[in-house]
Amino acid sequence: MEIYLDNAATSHPKPQAVVDAVMQALTTYNANPGRSGHQRALRGARLLLSARESLARLLNAEDSDRIVFCFNGTDALNTAIKGSLRVGDHVVSTMMEHNSVLRVLKELEKSGLIEVTLLEPDGSGTVPAESFEAALRPNTSLAISTHASNVTGAIQPVAAIGEAMRRHGVRYLIDGAQAVGHIPVDVRALKCSLYAFPGHKGLLGPQGTGGLYVAPGTPLRAFREGGTGSSSESMLQPVDMPEGYESGTVNLPGVAGLEAGASLVQAQMNERMRRERALTQALYEGLSHMDNAVVYSPSEPAARVSVVSFNLDGASSESVSDYLDTQGIAVRGGLHCAPGMHQALGTLRSGAVRVSPSWQNSFEDIEALLSAVKRYG
Ligand SMILES: Cc1ncc(COP(=O)(O)O)c(C=O)c1O
Repeated sequence: MEIYLDNAATSHPKPQAVVDAVMQALTTYNANPGRSGHQRALRGARLLLSARESLARLLNAEDSDRIVFCFNGTDALNTAIKGSLRVGDHVVSTMMEHNSVLRVLKELEKSGLIEVTLLEPDGSGTVPAESFEAALRPNTSLAISTHASNVTGAIQPVAAIGEAMRRHGVRYLIDGAQAVGHIPVDVRALKCSLYAFPGHKGLLGPQGTGGLYVAPGTPLRAFREGGTGSSSESMLQPVDMPEGYESGTVNLPGVAGLEAGASLVQAQMNERMRRERALTQALYEGLSHMDNAVVYSPSEPAARVSVVSFNLDGASSESVSDYLDTQGIAVRGGLHCAPGMHQALGTLRSGAVRVSPSWQNSFEDIEALLSAVKRYG
């Protein structure tokens, strides 16, 4: 029997309600919403609206129009970053970011279009708001941080950063890939301008889904142009929210599954968070009692999401994850698309073994993982 502990990559198993919603979208709702005016297309359009409303409720967005559907977390981040920056802008971000932020910034910097400052995490594995403030320049237009590290799980002080950036009039983008669905997210309380999230991780939706929250008063240029089903007489891209940022046929089956997943998550948020914290704590304690293990995640359960990373003395992370795979346990080894974070942890060569349980795992799954790690070591 497979034990799946790689939910930070994508959640598994998808709930039956998600599978059913995808099937229903492919049958009952199958049409191109926003394009044709027939009953079937209108049913599809209503489904899209309902999903937008569910996501807006989950994130406490002002209105469903503030939610743009994207194809994954990376697409949402590209939409936010490329739609925000102008030539000569300065961006403050962190070494902790995923390549879906770092590579976008570094490519723009390499082309001579923008300047970038990447801040190092402190001893607690976070970057405080004061470091962001100290790095601001007259031309800083955007600050970006992850909500929680995908390597260590450490939750970042996003509310304090949001508060500080609003005071300085700097746009703030949060990468919610490892937070949304695992801990409550209130975009208004966080005072962020943009919040990017995948649909296939904590929200339990299918791959190929994601979204971007855009706060009122945050103008954005479209990162991709094309048909939107609105203002069709114009050869120029409309800037209407949200259609102006969703060019091309939307992934209706994916969005239907995403709505089903997000609704489950919202109904069970507190229970789910408590369970993930308890599972992750059992995992953290078990690993930190092993003499030959180095654990990189914060010790305090409330300081991390459901991610614990470690290495064993003298073993490469891939050899440990490959061994666990032979034991029927799915985790991720190697580098986690976050080279700056591995540099900060000193694991750029070894990578790390990342274990990411979900509320659907059992304590027996964690015991089985710990026993297998002991057998390896
Ligand atoms: C922190 C973080 N940001 C962004 C992404 C990219 O998300 P996606 O794989 O949905 O493009 C990931 C995915 O692992 C992530 O962990």
